[in-house]
Amino acid sequence: MEPNIENLEKILVVGAGAMGSQIGMVCALAGYEVAVQDIDEGMLEKAQEQLRSRMDRNVEKGRMSEKDVAAAFGRMTFTTDLEGAAANADFVIEAIVEKLDAKRDLFARLDKLVPEHAILATNSSTIVSNRVADATNRPGRVCNMHFFNPALVMKCVEVVRNPETSDATVETTVELTRRIGKEPVILNKEIPGFVANRILGALVDEAISLYEADVASIEDIDTACKTALGHPMGPFELMDLTGIDVNYYVRVTNYEETGDERHKPQKSLAEKFKRGELGRKTGKGWYRYDKS
Ligand code: 3HC
Repeated sequence: MEPNIENLEKILVVGAGAMGSQIGMVCALAGYEVAVQDIDEGMLEKAQEQLRSRMDRNVEKGRMSEKDVAAAFGRMTFTTDLEGAAANADFVIEAIVEKLDAKRDLFARLDKLVPEHAILATNSSTIVSNRVADATNRPGRVCNMHFFNPALVMKCVEVVRNPETSDATVETTVELTRRIGKEPVILNKEIPGFVANRILGALVDEAISLYEADVASIEDIDTACKTALGHPMGPFELMDLTGIDVNYYVRVTNYEETGDERHKPQKSLAEKFKRGELGRKTGKGWYRYDKS
């Protein structure tokens, strides 16, 4: 059975990190029933707390009504039970760690748990869906659906087809993107990093190389991007927002794929990663943050 947007009611988001939890909230605010699943109970609790405080602020600022927010939370469940959450899901968005083996295991499990018509989408920014589709018996119903951080705010969603993705899967994913208030960008060809991150990656790489060459400080490089180029954040501030681990794993994956030494994680990035200084979520990255 081919997927169809008109029958799409239940969405499962796997992974309750910053991306997964906000993606779940976006879908619930748009009227979908959403299950957010994570193996870590603590992550689920943290996700709910953070979403509640974001939504409280939206109500306080008059951006949303208390009634709409309560209704959205009423449509959401947070659970560690993958089997239960997958059983009646029409659409799955995977947002777990950027590690191929973990994603392949998950896709193989999901394939057996979800209904036949369900689409399995990955929010990965580097792992193209072709690399997980063959862990399933439904490669035609597998694609990338890539959100940007913070997912509650950023409008763009890249929808990326693998060579076997069916037209119905692309059409359904694109229409879902529109129905949750986002702007789809369709990639007809798989390319790691897709469009936005390839452009961003070039910027981030140049920023790190300028810093490592001691041309300017982290703060001044960020200031240049904001005040000369009009970016809302500098590249170091942005890495702290998205997570230095994400940047690190992107580099590791690129290096593994190309074998090109230039794609290895840069020295300063690898050091931050090894020290666990991953950005805002750990209280320290390129900058220091008050832990809240
Ligand atoms: N989560 C949810 N909402 C957030 C947020 C967060 N982490 N941070 C900010 N917001 C929202 C809030 O509604 C906030 O208003 P409020 O504080 O009054 O509630 C509003 O955005 C404005 O925030 P700020 O006043 O703190 O700061 P800015 O005006 O600079 O906006 C920003 C914040 C939207 C994050 C903006 O700086 C921005 O657009 N930055 C660039 C983000 C970007 O490039 N994202 C792409 C990253 S690449 C990626 O995601 C790819 C992936 O594969 C890693």
